[in-house]
Amino acid sequence: MYYPDEVVGEVLRSNDIVDIISPYVKLKRSGANYFGLCPFHNEKSPSFSVSREKQIFYCFGCGAGGNALTFLMKYENASFGEAMQMLADRSGITLPSVNYSEEAKKRDQKREELLSINKEAATYYFHLLRSEKGAVGMRYLLQRGLTEETMRIFGLGFANGSANDLTAHLRKKGFSDEAILESGVAAFDERSGLHDKFWNRVMFPIQDVTGRVIGFGGRVMGDAKPKYLNSPETPVFDKSRNLYGLSLARRSRAGHFILCEGYMDVIAMHQAGFSQAVASLGTSFTEGQAAVLKRYVQDVILSYDSDTAGTTAALRNMEILQKAGIGCRVLDLTPYKDPDEFIKNAGKEAFAERIRDAENAFFFKIRMKEKEYRMDDPAQRTRFYREIARALCGFADALERENYLKAIAAKYFIGEEELRKAVASYSRVGGEEVARRPRPALRSAAGEASAKKQEEAQLKNEALLLTHLAEDPEFYRLAEPYLSADDFSEGISKRAAEGLFRQLNAQEGNQPVNVSAIIASFETEEEQQAAAGLFQQKLSVRGAPGTDEDRESHRVYLDVACAVKRASIARLAESAQDETTLERIIQSRKALKALSALAK
Ligand code: GTP
Ligand code: MN
Repeated sequence: MYYPDEVVGEVLRSNDIVDIISPYVKLKRSGANYFGLCPFHNEKSPSFSVSREKQIFYCFGCGAGGNALTFLMKYENASFGEAMQMLADRSGITLPSVNYSEEAKKRDQKREELLSINKEAATYYFHLLRSEKGAVGMRYLLQRGLTEETMRIFGLGFANGSANDLTAHLRKKGFSDEAILESGVAAFDERSGLHDKFWNRVMFPIQDVTGRVIGFGGRVMGDAKPKYLNSPETPVFDKSRNLYGLSLARRSRAGHFILCEGYMDVIAMHQAGFSQAVASLGTSFTEGQAAVLKRYVQDVILSYDSDTAGTTAALRNMEILQKAGIGCRVLDLTPYKDPDEFIKNAGKEAFAERIRDAENAFFFKIRMKEKEYRMDDPAQRTRFYREIARALCGFADALERENYLKAIAAKYFIGEEELRKAVASYSRVGGEEVARRPRPALRSAAGEASAKKQEEAQLKNEALLLTHLAEDPEFYRLAEPYLSADDFSEGISKRAAEGLFRQLNAQEGNQPVNVSAIIASFETEEEQQAAAGLFQQKLSVRGAPGTDEDRESHRVYLDVACAVKRASIARLAESAQDETTLERIIQSRKALKALSALAK
């Protein structure tokens, strides 16, 4: 145990989870709970709930949940100890000296050690760049147009051409070979043993949102390959949730971020006064990064190369941003390749103008599509119109769709009525197409990942519900009229539900459910283990104060039941379109309505 349970309990009791989460997530009260947009996955309608009564949060969309400590650990990327300190500081509690569990101690120490190594390496590279040995690096960066002040702000450094300098330096500072290797600034092979990863490169330290160095990008000074070498992912360096320049950009007053491709672009923009620039870390932009950006801004301007690869990336990232509910525009830098080149050649005033003129994402999308068709061929033109209709169908809001329709009609000299007809016919025919085609074919890689997450969250909800149904007969009587085993996902979940409902229906009084009998009905060990897991999901959280399951209302679990029901309806709607299914959907919707009324 890290701190004694009483201390954890006291720290939690002296803070209200609603106060803790409010600065991060805009919460709205609804009944006994507060709701907001989940900061841990991308969503447009709020499924992130906070219960003041229970002092817990839970997301019905992605399954994230826990108490105030869990929230801070997840959101601030903090260790348990750091989260405890934050809460204790807030309420003026002095924490006793800690009594670490071996495991927690090791994990925290490891993180701290990796951060110290990164910091030490950054300092080492920093000084080297400003020493005689770093003169080539300094010359290169100056020739790229960076001022010494910019280099200082970004902590730029230099790794010299010798294989072991940094490693030797870190060893001298007392770091173990194992930790040096794990930090990613060194590599190991049989022939040369432990040696520096970066040689003869200018070094770009990568910082987390709070400014701690978590990794490096190193650039060759000429045309050698690879141009950039990046630190590998480590326990402190998660490339899918960090962005280059974010610790500076989050303080910019621009009200938007500019998302670009390169470290040098971020730095060049910053030097020209556009400190709202961020870049992904040599990997493709992720949903996690979009969720992080969303904490700070509502709008992102994309700045990608105008070549095919850049356009593809822009279109892809646009989807990710829009799915996260972030408004999106696209920067046109022609005739230049990237922001760095643009600013160098055209100057910052011209750049500011391009920001003002950034193209609406939808228009950009259509303009890119247009390039695929020959407008002088009637058949191709028709297909292009169909593409537009399809894109317009993406706007769920009718007014917004109509506004875009008018604008596009004017822009491409298409009759408004003609386009409206195309949209109507598309939404009819296109709808059928969607229903007939196997779903996975429609999904992008990102869509697939999020679909998987959604599926996991659904299974988690089902498990929460099964556990509670088995434990609380009163809740069962309340919810049972509106639920059936068919609401659970095909497979173990559904079979377990069948077993449970059968038992509970046959029972009189409040006999405990015989879960082990349900589990025993599965044949293989894997199935049994999975089934057992289904009956062990709980929302209560270690250290939550005053937890007394009996006193708790059923409301939270009714919400879970609604989520299960909703998912079941969505599955039905995706399956066959015959009359029986339709009837089942209608009945299920009725049941869902009744369930949500109970949850109010
Ligand atoms: P300059 O070419 O110096 O202007 O740098 P840049 O940051 O503009 O680079 P570029 O536009 O070529 O690439 C964009 C980003 O992709 C870089 O900042 C890196 O994060 C990443 N990248 C480019 N080349 C490589 C490479 O060879 N390996 C890896 N891992 N990442 C690269
Ligand atoms: Mn560049």
